[in-house]
Amino acid sequence: MNEHVSLSAPIEEPIQRSNTRKVFIKTYGCQMNVYDSTRMGDALASEGYETTEEMGEADLVLLNTCHIREKAADKVYSALGRLREMKKKRAAEGREFMIGVAGCVAQAEGEEIARREPAVDVVIGPQTYHRLPDALKQARTGKRVVDTEYAVEDKFAHLPAVEKAKVRARGVTSFLTVQEGCDKFCTFCVVPYTRGSEVSRPVQQIIDEAERLVDAGVREITLLGQNVNAWQAEGPPRGRNGGEWGLGDLLYRLAEIPGLARLRYTTSHPRDMDDRLIEAHRDLRSLMPYLHLPVQSGSDRILKAMNRRHTAAEYIRLIERIRSMRGDIAMSGDFIVGFPGETDQDFEDTLRIVEEVNYASAYSFKYSTRPGTPGADLGDQVAEEVKAERLERLQALLLKQQTDFAKSCVGKVIDLLLEKPGRMPGQVIGRSPWLQSVNVDAKTSQIGDIIQVRIIGTGPNSLFAEPAESLIGA
Ligand code: 5AD
Ligand code: SF4
Repeated sequence: MNEHVSLSAPIEEPIQRSNTRKVFIKTYGCQMNVYDSTRMGDALASEGYETTEEMGEADLVLLNTCHIREKAADKVYSALGRLREMKKKRAAEGREFMIGVAGCVAQAEGEEIARREPAVDVVIGPQTYHRLPDALKQARTGKRVVDTEYAVEDKFAHLPAVEKAKVRARGVTSFLTVQEGCDKFCTFCVVPYTRGSEVSRPVQQIIDEAERLVDAGVREITLLGQNVNAWQAEGPPRGRNGGEWGLGDLLYRLAEIPGLARLRYTTSHPRDMDDRLIEAHRDLRSLMPYLHLPVQSGSDRILKAMNRRHTAAEYIRLIERIRSMRGDIAMSGDFIVGFPGETDQDFEDTLRIVEEVNYASAYSFKYSTRPGTPGADLGDQVAEEVKAERLERLQALLLKQQTDFAKSCVGKVIDLLLEKPGRMPGQVIGRSPWLQSVNVDAKTSQIGDIIQVRIIGTGPNSLFAEPAESLIGA
């Protein structure tokens, strides 16, 4: 752990309004950060911290940050500016107010954050957040702590197990990180530098966590990894690979947990979609027919420059294979427009691959130069207006596909997992197998149930449905 003594005045002895301190965690970026924020909350709970949704009542504000694009990182510094002012006010009132920066900006910028924003008490990386309680204790003595070295110990083994009641309060769906880091080194991406090289959690640790979640009432688990389908670990002899398990094997095993109704996983790399994983989509009822499989570009030239290690045709063939196993699978993807050297023709190739795949949902971004990545050193950067124009065209096409997909669902009877109260009284929001939000008239006591509904209409970001039990006489 590296640390240095703060140049700011030592923090005064806090005047506590009650025995429990409160932490407000602001999460930026991806689903893994959402999962990490929950786990940081768990680690802090064992130190007496309660999480709050109100920043105003917090004694500690923790920013769990994202470094993937420049804008995401900029947001952190502007938020820190506002927190500095809050800290001044609190100091005048004699109340403790601590500021922590976690996540990928913490990892990438470390000491630099503490230098740019002296009000920060703790900077903690994604691999060390189990040490957060210790870091806060030290910070309370007036030291500023920067802890971003990769821990030799397994953070998951050091995080406390969560109480059942708490898990239940979080809802009936849950994330579960199975893999972290990335060895792919796409030339635009900071992840291999901020999250480090690929590490897979052991089989039993994952099964234990999944069983605990299900025992507490969770019905759907989404397995997370920066490169989730690169997950591999030694497990009990099983399947065609013996003791060497891939993500497919893990899914088959998790599908055996009684009460676990739905499984998903994200994010996958096309190179790591092996046969066993594709077959799992054919065989497992609980594996939802939705696959987020980023391609980034439809141009072979750009794919090569991005170091994606596959061609557009290989990606299309892969999707054909997956669809031949699971005909109703909804495809989702990520796209980058304006990668250095991208010509009009390259961009047309991207539009063409989108047409060919027909996505049910997708995310698209303008290329953002990330210092330290190979892409940052390439000449031939694309002008901002060109990027903006391409992004607009791409997003119009993707939105049309998403809307068409939603419309194609109207009239279908589907299984809906009821997740949370809707905006209108008497309404509940659920998820379709294809990850769409669906509004339906139901009782909040039914949350956690999977009911059959008929889709009757579409809204801008969700679908409307009516219960279908009466229709099928269930
Ligand atoms: N610029 C723009 N988009 C990026 N992504 C990753 N790095 C960059 C970057 N430098 C996008 C990719 C990735 C998603 C999580 O973010 O599409 O799949
Ligand atoms: Fe980044 Fe590529 Fe790894 Fe995905 S596969 S995390 S885009 S380097």
